[in-house]
Amino acid sequence: MIQWFPGHMAKAKKEIAAVLPLVDIIFELVDARIPYSSQNPLFLDLIKNKPRLVLLTKSEMADVDITEIWVKRFEKSGAAALAVDAVSGYNVNRIAKAVRNKLRDKIIKKQIRGMKMRPTRAMIIGIPNVGKSTLINKLVRKRATAVGNRPGVTKAQQWIRINPQLELLDTPGMLWPKIEERTVAIHLALTGAIKSEIVPFIDIGEYFFDFFRGCYSELFTARYGVDLNLSNQEIAKAIVTTRGIIREDYYEKAFNIVINDFQNMRIGRITLDRP
Ligand code: G4P
Repeated sequence: MIQWFPGHMAKAKKEIAAVLPLVDIIFELVDARIPYSSQNPLFLDLIKNKPRLVLLTKSEMADVDITEIWVKRFEKSGAAALAVDAVSGYNVNRIAKAVRNKLRDKIIKKQIRGMKMRPTRAMIIGIPNVGKSTLINKLVRKRATAVGNRPGVTKAQQWIRINPQLELLDTPGMLWPKIEERTVAIHLALTGAIKSEIVPFIDIGEYFFDFFRGCYSELFTARYGVDLNLSNQEIAKAIVTTRGIIREDYYEKAFNIVINDFQNMRIGRITLDRP
């Protein structure tokens, strides 16, 4: 079980709660490789019935077929969902339309009542490193302008006008105080979202080899030329030896290589969280 800066958490929660009444829609960013593990369970509590657009970031690193299942899963839960890649810009231009679709009923109601239309206000939430800043930069390009003060908004919070129809509010990346599921902690560590001190590094590596025995074994074998039926020790030794590295701590070294390759997408498109 991980204890995560409860003080910071409480502050971030308070800030989000204060600004929530101003917000029309939540952009909830999750990592497409770990849509379950990167979803902060506290957010859902916090945002209650606010319309939600789940954006699965880094989708060009994730398994396309599994991502599609995850998108459907989120849609079934009542959210809108879209797989995006904030670096390449994949699907980023579809966000505006997804927002309009999600809020269509509200917009129509306003139009019927003759209310003046103002830009839609979206709040971005997500764990650290999920791609919040990268996505904002992609959305903004050069057209962004900061929006003046609003009640309930602290100095650190800044509304950014993306276009006449959409304003965005970034929030600090938040993890939750207790990561109780071991798999969640390992998946967060494997994707680099958290430092892996909570679960021993060797356990993470062994978990990863076992994961490949169940999924993407062909990608693993193609990359390392080793048979996953071998023992972990044998696999590790083979991986390290083919790189010309002979060292005593080959076991850890091999895990380092594989995790690094995974994070840099050298093994292939891989999703850790299976729906
Ligand atoms: P944050 O604001 O939520 O904390 O995340 P941030 O945008 O800073 O992104 C964290 C890292 O993840 C960055 O890499 C960024 O390039 C990468 N990233 C974000 N979104 C995507 C995405 O959709 N696809 C891919 N492939 N990568 C993404 P970094 O290594 O920390 O920095 P850099 O190498 O880009 O300089």
